[in-house]
Amino acid sequence: MKKKWWHEAVIYEIYCRSFCDSNGDGIGDLRGVISKLPVLKELGINCIWFAPIYKSPQIDNGYDVSDYQDIEPDYGTLADFKELLDLAHGMGIRVIMDMVLNHSSDEHRWFQEARKAKDSPYRNYYIWQPPKSDGSEPNNWGNYFREGSGSAWEYDELTEEYYLHQYSIKMPDLNWEYEPLRKEIYKMLHWWLDFGVDGFRLDIFTRLKKPKGFPNTEKAPNVILDRNGFVVDTAMCTNVEGIHDILHELYTEVFGVRECVTVGEGAGVTSQNALGYVDREREEINMVYHFELASRHIHSITPEHFRRIQTNWADVIRHNGWAVQHMSNHDSARQVSCYGNDEKFRVSSAKLLATLIHTTPGTPIIYQGEEIGMVNVKFDDIKDYNCCYTIGDYNSMIKSGVSPEEALKFVGPRSRDNARTPYQWDASENAGFTTGKPWMKLNPRYPAINLENDLASEDSIFNYYQEMIKMRQEHPAIIEGELRFLMENHPQIIMYLRECEQETLLIIANYSNEKAILSPSDVVDSGIWQRLITNQAGMLPFIGNRDFLLPWEAEVYCLIKTR
Ligand code: NOJ
Repeated sequence: MKKKWWHEAVIYEIYCRSFCDSNGDGIGDLRGVISKLPVLKELGINCIWFAPIYKSPQIDNGYDVSDYQDIEPDYGTLADFKELLDLAHGMGIRVIMDMVLNHSSDEHRWFQEARKAKDSPYRNYYIWQPPKSDGSEPNNWGNYFREGSGSAWEYDELTEEYYLHQYSIKMPDLNWEYEPLRKEIYKMLHWWLDFGVDGFRLDIFTRLKKPKGFPNTEKAPNVILDRNGFVVDTAMCTNVEGIHDILHELYTEVFGVRECVTVGEGAGVTSQNALGYVDREREEINMVYHFELASRHIHSITPEHFRRIQTNWADVIRHNGWAVQHMSNHDSARQVSCYGNDEKFRVSSAKLLATLIHTTPGTPIIYQGEEIGMVNVKFDDIKDYNCCYTIGDYNSMIKSGVSPEEALKFVGPRSRDNARTPYQWDASENAGFTTGKPWMKLNPRYPAINLENDLASEDSIFNYYQEMIKMRQEHPAIIEGELRFLMENHPQIIMYLRECEQETLLIIANYSNEKAILSPSDVVDSGIWQRLITNQAGMLPFIGNRDFLLPWEAEVYCLIKTR
């Protein structure tokens, strides 16, 4: 494998709105990010992914772009961004933009023009269909945001046609069949690369191609909601035949002719179909982050699940592809709350999860706050939630007779807002995020869980992340080693080797709230192993000293001598 910088990178996702507010308006901004670049440098990450910071009405916090070539005024200006970019580059940190190519905002100039007349030069930038003979929607597709009637089609009075929106009514889908639109997008991508960005995270790239003739969707097996007969089927526009032509053209026109990385958001991508996108020979995109291991819809995992998913993805890498390692992002709940233990074992379980993510094959992505063990929030009032899915689901439940308490109990732990509460910098008012009124309520646990506190502890999660990132840079087996699981049937233990020509690493983790009894000879029968890292400071290494692992204990060893 010819190594590229992104094989060795550690990416850090910034959700600007909730990161750091520099001007007291309660909203995170670019100058706030600039002020925190030194902390990110200290953490050791070497690439930032910015969730969308373009000009936007903020219906979906920036995933509704109204100008792809300008910065959202709440966040700052293009000049601020340029300054940030230069500073980051000076620190050895690359920056990638979130590129939303499936839809724009309805306030984008293209859509404003398109809706004016059927013969508008921009009409075909979007997807329009006449009503059926009875005036109804062109098909039974539902929109993901459960807006309006539930349909993915919105009637536009002026031209008496429907337009497609898989997400919000205010986020019309772009028409990738139309060459002038594609050309315009390529120009815009080049413009960003000229500006100095280092690549793109591609929002729901698997949904750019729509099925020919817009057929009704069947009700099985991917249906997640059926409302007024409109069916939200995650498969309806996902991985549709022809999607690879779109991506290959993007590659030949932009990604392949510039120095840049592409990270696709892999809705509908599994280890079974991933090579279709990430096999280097295919010339489409570099890597995909998938939702097979962890996602908004997966609320707990087991060692068995972890082994299976990681083994499958290691295969993708072996066959000329690449992968991403992550357990949370701005769309999911907090990883330590879902997959760790955010009470009694918050610190050790946060570190254990970090160990898994940073030592399995692929490029890790850290989501802001993960490195200090930020946890889920539990608001008592739906008014404190902001996420459209959360509010949509809550309202549907109330309509169907569920009590407000029960509805909150259901939507709360699943809400994307768990990840979107402001970053907790210190224990001062509003956690040091803003001097104004925060756009979203803080997590009330911030006086205890914040960066300043974390750094003051010898046991800091932040320091552990630092060590993991450093270890990654010093050990080639983490980047290119084969993955081999040991103790494959153990209900508590996750254990694996990473082996390459130069070295062998062993990772041992007790993925449970209970002590695990096992003898080192169950693990390794020969060789001298040096412990590189542990999440249980003060404990002697397991190998050679003990026959148990503490709850959520994690260790990494390097084989220094075979006997
Ligand atoms: C995926 C993004 O991560 C999510 O936040 C957004 O709502 C949808 N794509 C639509 O753009």
